[in-house]
Amino acid sequence: MDFGPYLIRPERWTELPPRWGEAFGREAPLCVEIGFGNGEFLAEMAKTHADRNWVGFETSLTCIVKTGRKLRQSGVENVRLALLDGKFGLRELFADGSVAQVFVNFPCPWPKARHAERRLVDEDFAQTLAAVLAEGGEFQLVTDALWYAEEAAGHLAAAGLALEGPFPLADGPGTRYERKWRARGLSVWKLVARNREPKTVKRIAEGAMPHAKVPTKFERLKIEGLAGKKETWEGGAVVLKEVFLSAHAEAALIRAFAIDGDFTQQFFLIVSRIPEGVIVQLDGATVPFRTPAVKRAVSLVAEELSR
Ligand SMILES: C[S@@+](CC[C@H](N)C(=O)[O-])C[C@H]1O[C@@H](n2cnc3c(N)ncnc32)[C@H](O)[C@@H]1O
Repeated sequence: MDFGPYLIRPERWTELPPRWGEAFGREAPLCVEIGFGNGEFLAEMAKTHADRNWVGFETSLTCIVKTGRKLRQSGVENVRLALLDGKFGLRELFADGSVAQVFVNFPCPWPKARHAERRLVDEDFAQTLAAVLAEGGEFQLVTDALWYAEEAAGHLAAAGLALEGPFPLADGPGTRYERKWRARGLSVWKLVARNREPKTVKRIAEGAMPHAKVPTKFERLKIEGLAGKKETWEGGAVVLKEVFLSAHAEAALIRAFAIDGDFTQQFFLIVSRIPEGVIVQLDGATVPFRTPAVKRAVSLVAEELSR
């Protein structure tokens, strides 16, 4: 498993933002790449800038596997990879003013208006950059879509960052997508945004593990009746899906979704018997980030069982 030494599981960490120095075994300036794809750029940058600690976010496990192989081949030790939405990771895992550079190469542009909310560089992302980038820290965006770079520039300027570009780039990051678009004769654009003075941004994840004890009997029918329960509120939701009972109905697993803004997590809740009644906890195999929606999932199950 080539990615083994590089993979981090920040959803399991109980201190957020973490002490990155401990995750890397040394203190060094932090650089981040979001959507590293095959990892060509990340591996090259980590080698060239061995004096920095590199964190990569990807939502594709295949990309993590391929990148792990590359990192191992190049023998670098200053990279950590997370299978995580980089928009969420950048906001939740880094303290204000703690990041030197953030790179995004060829983000999925989502050109259709109805998909606009899927674009990575939006108003919230710009506000996160304005918080986590150190004074003088920079965000570098490379894309084949000039309109995307211009839209991003608008969000970044509104968040108070100083801009350079977008300008055409003759020689880019050398990634798979750069080769692909150049082969089709497309131009490549770069936008650089520098932070002037770090601001702050609201974070929603915390380390503590929620649980709830309910002084009630473990009632099989009541627990099975939780399947399909939903609760929604502005900016969030909890959906309880199937309920799985253990062979002797000693415990139950509930598959759940927790939605916080544009960040969705799937995980299991576990309901088990204790001397005082039942306890509702997060199942250890699928620990999510403890966001308001995840905490609400725990309390919702407890409330329903105490009725
Ligand atoms: C068009 S590809 C570009 C890959 C690579 N940077 C390159 O230039 O070849 C976009 C990549 O971003 C990843 N991605 C999309 N949204 C993401 C997000 N919110 N957080 C992290 N990675 C994301 C996708 O899985 C995909 O690998």
